[in-house]
Amino acid sequence: MTHASYSRENGRALAVLGLAAAESAAALRALAADLDAAPSAVSRAASEAASGDACARAGALLGIPDVVRVAGRTSASAPTVVCGALRALVGAVAVDANSTDAAGEVFWRLHALTSSAAVAAV
Ligand SMILES: *[C@@H]1O[C@H](CO)[C@@H](O)[C@H](O)[C@H]1NC(C)=O
Repeated sequence: MTHASYSRENGRALAVLGLAAAESAAALRALAADLDAAPSAVSRAASEAASGDACARAGALLGIPDVVRVAGRTSASAPTVVCGALRALVGAVAVDANSTDAAGEVFWRLHALTSSAAVAAV
């Protein structure tokens, strides 16, 4: 996996798709759980699942810091790098499977892994 700091050939375009697939999966799950959910709640569920702590934790658990190529002054374990690479991975699944549903499925499995790891750590 290649970060934008390392090469112009990198996973950013895939990350755009991965983010969209993950947000879509999270919004669908929120509405499936509660059809009357407030727009703000659905929006929060979508953005929280695919960004910030949860995203960086899932990426770290997958070992992304060990496999992502970055330029010298960029940290491979920086949350934005880890999260971007994870999104790119989800986007790559969508392209390979020709399906954002498949990518959303992979995203949820990763998300569940992180949630149970978080519970186990308590
Ligand atoms: C990808 O999926 C779309 C929609 O189902 C389909 O029209 C298209 O032919 C598929 N592309 C490939 C390469 O399988």
